[in-house]
Amino acid sequence: MPKRSVPGKPARRQPTPTKAWGGRFRQATHPLAEAYILSLPIDRRLWREEIAVSVAHARMLGRQRIIPRADAAAIVRGLQDVRRELAAGRFHWREELEDVHTNVEARLAQKIGARAAGRLRTARSRNDQVATDLRLYAKHACDRAVTAIGSLQRALLSLAEANRSTVMPGYTHLQRAQPVLLAHHLLAYLEMLERDSERFQQAHRRADVLPLGSGALAGVPYPIDRQAVAKELGFARLSENSLDAVSDRDFVVDFIAAAALCMTHISRLAEEIVLWSSSEFGFLRLPDAFATGSSIMPQKRNPDVAELARARMGRVDGLLVSILTTLKALPLAYNRDLQEDKRAFFDAEDTLLDTLDVFAAMAPNLRFDADRARQAASADYSLATDLADELVRRGLPFRQAHNAVGRLIQYAEQQGKTFSELSAAEYRRFSSLFPEDVSKLGLDAALGARDAPGGTAPRQVAAALRRWRRRLK
Ligand code: ARG
Repeated sequence: MPKRSVPGKPARRQPTPTKAWGGRFRQATHPLAEAYILSLPIDRRLWREEIAVSVAHARMLGRQRIIPRADAAAIVRGLQDVRRELAAGRFHWREELEDVHTNVEARLAQKIGARAAGRLRTARSRNDQVATDLRLYAKHACDRAVTAIGSLQRALLSLAEANRSTVMPGYTHLQRAQPVLLAHHLLAYLEMLERDSERFQQAHRRADVLPLGSGALAGVPYPIDRQAVAKELGFARLSENSLDAVSDRDFVVDFIAAAALCMTHISRLAEEIVLWSSSEFGFLRLPDAFATGSSIMPQKRNPDVAELARARMGRVDGLLVSILTTLKALPLAYNRDLQEDKRAFFDAEDTLLDTLDVFAAMAPNLRFDADRARQAASADYSLATDLADELVRRGLPFRQAHNAVGRLIQYAEQQGKTFSELSAAEYRRFSSLFPEDVSKLGLDAALGARDAPGGTAPRQVAAALRRWRRRLK
C-alpha cells in the first residue's frame, strides 16, 4: 500500500514525464491525490494479462502496418523480457506510475527506448486495455472456481460414500422431521455446488468478449484487425459497441454473484458442521487438524473454519452490493469509479477459493457418530408420517390418517412411551386399520419406502452416489 504522506502544498516539481497523460499538466499531482488514485497494489495482479494483451496488440499493429514492423518486433521482444522479470519476481514496481499498465510500459521504454515503446499506445486506451485484461483474467478465474468446486464435490462425495448407511434425522424448522440417509443429505450439497459450477461456466462465456479496439470510448481511427487479436488472446467474440465495451462490468457482477451464491451454499454446510459438532447434536467429531482449542477452557474443540466460512460469506455478499452500487447510475462511458471493480473481484475470488479449498481438505476427515445419529433419527416420533402413510395404504385418506396419528402421539406422550413401546391394542384405539405388527415399523422400512426418484431410499441414494462418481470422474 502507498505510504501515507503528510498533507501539504502540492509538490512544486514538474510532472513526472513518466505519466501516461503528463503532457498538458503544469503542476505535479498532490501526493494525497496520487496515493488516492493509485491502483497498482491491486491491479499488479493483472500483469500476465497485461503482457499478453500488449503483445497481441503490438503484433497486430505491425501486421497491419499501423506501426513500423521493426518497432512491433522490438516491442514484442521487450515485453517478453519484461514478462520474464515479472515471472522471476525481479520486476521493480514503481508506485508513482499509478497502475500496472504504465509500469509495464515504462519498463518497456527503458528496454527498447521511448520511441518504439511509445508506439504501443497507438489505437489503444487504458480504458479498453483494462477491460480486456480483466475479462481475460475473469475467464481464468471462472475456470479456477469450477475446478475448486469440483474438488469440494469430490471430497463430499467421498464422505457420503464412506458413510453410506448412516441414518440421521432430517429436519424442518430445525425440528426432527423424517429420517434420511446422511449420504442423501450430503448429496444435496453436491447438487447446489453443481449449479454454482454452471453459473461460473456461464460467467466465463459472458466474459469471453474482446473489448480491445474500442479505444477510449468511440472506437479507433486505424485499420486494426480485432478478429486477429481476439484469436490470439482466445476470445470467442468481439464487443459490438465501443461505449458499452469500455464501461460494461456486468461480467464482474456475474462472477461475484456466482461467488456469493456459492459462498451462501457453503455457509449452510458450515452452519450444519457447527451444529452437528456441538454436544447437543453430537453427530460428528471435528478432526484435530481442523478444530481449535480455547485458551481458557481445556475441553473445547471449536469449529473455527466453519464459523469463519459463515462470516466470510457475508463479506462476499458485501462485495456484490459494492460492485452493484458502483455501477448504479454511472453515466457512459468509462468513469474512474470502474477501477474499484478489481478490488471487489479479487477479494471475492480469494475468499471463495480459500473457502472451497479448506472445505475440500476438511470434508473427508469428518468423523460421524452413526449410533448417535441413528438414535436421534427415530426419537421424537420421527416415524409419525410413516404411520400415517401405513393407514393411507389401508384405505384411509391422508388427512384422517394424520389426525389419527396426531391423537396417538398425544396419548403416547401422556404415557411417556415411544411408538415401539405401545401395544397394538393401544394403536387401535386411534384407528382400527393399524396392523398387528405396527410397532415394528422402523427406521429402515421408513427409509426404504421413500423410493421415488430423488428420495432417500438406500436404493435411490446408491444410484445417486454412482451417478455422481461417474459425473465427477
Ligand atoms: N487503473 C485504471 C482502471 O482500473 C485504468 C484505466 C484508467 N483510465 C483512465 N481513463 N484514467 O480503471
